[in-house]
Amino acid sequence: MATLVETCVCEACSEARVTIQQIFDVLDIYGWLLDSYVVEQLWEKLPNSWKLILQGVSPEEFGTWLGGDISCTRVWPLSLLALRQVTWNLQINRDHRNHESTLRCGKVKNDAYHNLENLILEGKGEESQNLHDALKKHNNLFLKHVKIKKRHEIQEIAKICADCARESNAKCIVDVGAGMGHLARSLAFKYGLYVTCIEQNASLSQQARKWDRELLTSISKHLPDLPIKLPQHVSVKLENTDLEQTETVENIQRIFSENFNLSKTQTGFSIVGLHPCGDLAATLLRFYISRHEARFICIVGCCYMKLTLKDTADVLHGYPLSKYLSSFENHKLSYTALEAACHAMESHCDKLRTGNYEDLIVHAYRAALETILIRRSKRLRHIQVRNVKVVKPLTFQQYCAAATADFESYLQPNDLDFENSQIKYFLSQWRQIVIFGALRTMLAPLVETVILLDRFLFLSENNLPPTLKPIFDARLSPRNFLLLSVKNCESSS
Ligand SMILES: C[S@@+](CC[C@H](N)C(=O)[O-])C[C@H]1O[C@@H](n2cnc3c(N)ncnc32)[C@H](O)[C@@H]1O
Ligand SMILES: [Zn+2]
Repeated sequence: MATLVETCVCEACSEARVTIQQIFDVLDIYGWLLDSYVVEQLWEKLPNSWKLILQGVSPEEFGTWLGGDISCTRVWPLSLLALRQVTWNLQINRDHRNHESTLRCGKVKNDAYHNLENLILEGKGEESQNLHDALKKHNNLFLKHVKIKKRHEIQEIAKICADCARESNAKCIVDVGAGMGHLARSLAFKYGLYVTCIEQNASLSQQARKWDRELLTSISKHLPDLPIKLPQHVSVKLENTDLEQTETVENIQRIFSENFNLSKTQTGFSIVGLHPCGDLAATLLRFYISRHEARFICIVGCCYMKLTLKDTADVLHGYPLSKYLSSFENHKLSYTALEAACHAMESHCDKLRTGNYEDLIVHAYRAALETILIRRSKRLRHIQVRNVKVVKPLTFQQYCAAATADFESYLQPNDLDFENSQIKYFLSQWRQIVIFGALRTMLAPLVETVILLDRFLFLSENNLPPTLKPIFDARLSPRNFLLLSVKNCESSS
């Protein structure tokens, strides 16, 4: 692990530090909204001026307002207007079409990879020409087993990885947390890269091998002479300690040299992670920083609520990573805040705006169920209930039956509960729960911004200039920020 910590004074890094500070200033006042479980009845805690207005606002109107509509004729409380504005100003722009959304450390310039940055910004990355031309007609073969969301993600991230590989003259890619190997297949088959996948779940690696062979067989029928190197799959957990990582690196390099016929000097590799959840993103960043063999890193994180939160500097936790944020007296983010930061904000607003919020009403059902369960026993507070997927309008009774299907029958809600006037009144207030949930959605991007800027600063403090950019359509794939860093080729060999 590199020990020299630098404070980069470029505009992007300086701004990142100020933004983090300002976000915590906002969270000091309004963070309680994020730290609450929606199942609790928290409406009463809202400022009086908000309650007065919000009790007469429909979810449709609130969704429109939250989505940025400034033409609404209602007179909103100034503090609410100010909060909406400040959350917009402080969060990193999530629009992948907006080139100004890129945050790039000022040290990423006039280097070998300046071209690369421009390629990414202009979206000009191209598939390896020979393979691309040959496979163009057979793109449908790559779509099998891959959901629309994943297709979009792979198309975007594979292009960027291939550009980075070309610019850094490094054809070996290690896809960590590769799952069923969808991205790896694109990188290997379409872009001609040498790919080794690391995945802790052996059955996923097994599935990936099966689909690799299946794709190879289908392509060979049309293009028998196409030179394709199948991805290699290793079922192992990437750990944080130097010793274990050294073992993994030796293993990876052996795989590259044996399977792709490369000499040791050609087996420098790059790290790719498509949705490495929770701590895996932090492990990958540490891996990239500490291993000179790693040429570039290209990751889009997810599942922030799975991050290990610690404030002792000597423990390898997932958040915070940067020295800057670690020095804060209070950098704490609650589990519920991290969980909220993983929601699909844009889709949430769309649902409210278009009156398509059946599944959000379920939060009111969950809250009413909580009241019933707590009456049974205080120990049932926040108890895990079954997740109920809403595919059609659902009554409270139907919801309770599905959510508590695993409970002992004496704990399950009955007709007495359903007829209880307090529960009936509570259910009639469902709009409050939906709007409270929307207020949390407004603040959640601040939490994601803190996590991403912390990772950004961690790289810059280790003198590895980072770039942060939304690359997926947030409506299709809400965790859409790519964190990229490319090492100077001469120093990395
Ligand atoms: C959210 S999934 C993403 C899978 C795949 N990249 C995709 O986009 O479809 C994260 C994957 O990372 C794997 N994983 C998590 N931590 C890991 C670790 N330390 N080492 C190896 N694999 C890990 C999990 O088993 C899981 O398959
Ligand atoms: Zn910088």
